[in-house]
Amino acid sequence: MIDTTTKVREHYAATGLTDVIRTALMTIAPEGQTLTVARLAPLDQFHLRGIRATEELARAARLEPTSLVLDVGCGIGGPARYLASTYGCTVTGVDLSPGFVDAATYLTDRCALSDRVTFQTGDAMHLPVEDGTFDAVFLQHVAMNIQDRQALYAEVRRVLSQGGRFVTYDIVLRDGDVAYPVPWAHDASTSFLLSAEETRAALQRAGFQALLWRDDTQAVIDWFKTTTAGPPQSGSNPGLGLNLGVVMGAEFQSMNANLARNIRENRLGVLSAVLTRAV
Ligand SMILES: C[S@@+](CC[C@H](N)C(=O)[O-])C[C@H]1O[C@@H](n2cnc3c(N)ncnc32)[C@H](O)[C@@H]1O
Repeated sequence: MIDTTTKVREHYAATGLTDVIRTALMTIAPEGQTLTVARLAPLDQFHLRGIRATEELARAARLEPTSLVLDVGCGIGGPARYLASTYGCTVTGVDLSPGFVDAATYLTDRCALSDRVTFQTGDAMHLPVEDGTFDAVFLQHVAMNIQDRQALYAEVRRVLSQGGRFVTYDIVLRDGDVAYPVPWAHDASTSFLLSAEETRAALQRAGFQALLWRDDTQAVIDWFKTTTAGPPQSGSNPGLGLNLGVVMGAEFQSMNANLARNIRENRLGVLSAVLTRAV
């Protein structure tokens, strides 16, 4: 039987993604021309509310040029590049998907940020980094794929420095059954959602205390309404950005329409939190 981690890795398999992205970018910037973080944002911020969410959370994390940041489940590296280019900090991204890590490395080179932003393939449950290394750890739209939430948070705590900040941005269960597929899972077998209350309890048990705890559900509903591609009710709204279809393929549109519906119908909510080690 295929284990859960393998199924999640297959969901984000991204074979040949770097070439697909290279081709898609030809129209806006030929190979050899430096790209900006802002230009890539519709493609590489793989979470609700896109770069705006990363901006807000980064502000709360109080990053400095000397900060060492770990982005767990970094995707194709949009948030990591935003943090390094805005704050001058150094960012390591870790992701389960080798195809995403390859694309992240390519895009970072195209943005001339490779001296401060690096990526490696790895599992959030066994991060390939030393204890107490990072001033900030980001976890954006990743936890919903992870079965053992308690162990995940303990692993984040292990790598966070004393006084460091843990930034988590996730989808939470509210009321009713989730309609699948959604962008992180084809069905419930790789989707491990908790309610906001369960999330808070797991974080507390792992030794975190909250500096910021915010329900972003209404902000996401408003964002879905105002995305340029049209209202989610139409069934044609790409929501997270049509360009994420480049990353996830043709099915992304229906996955994202389901996500919008789940949130609109109060089946799912959206939680932002910034935490620090309790002791
Ligand atoms: C929805 S994407 C979010 C990407 C990125 N955080 C962002 O906001 O742009 C979820 C990412 O989590 C990664 N992921 C899922 N489970 C993981 C695990 N156990 N370890 C590392 N990465 C994981 C996936 O490969 C995928 O890139």
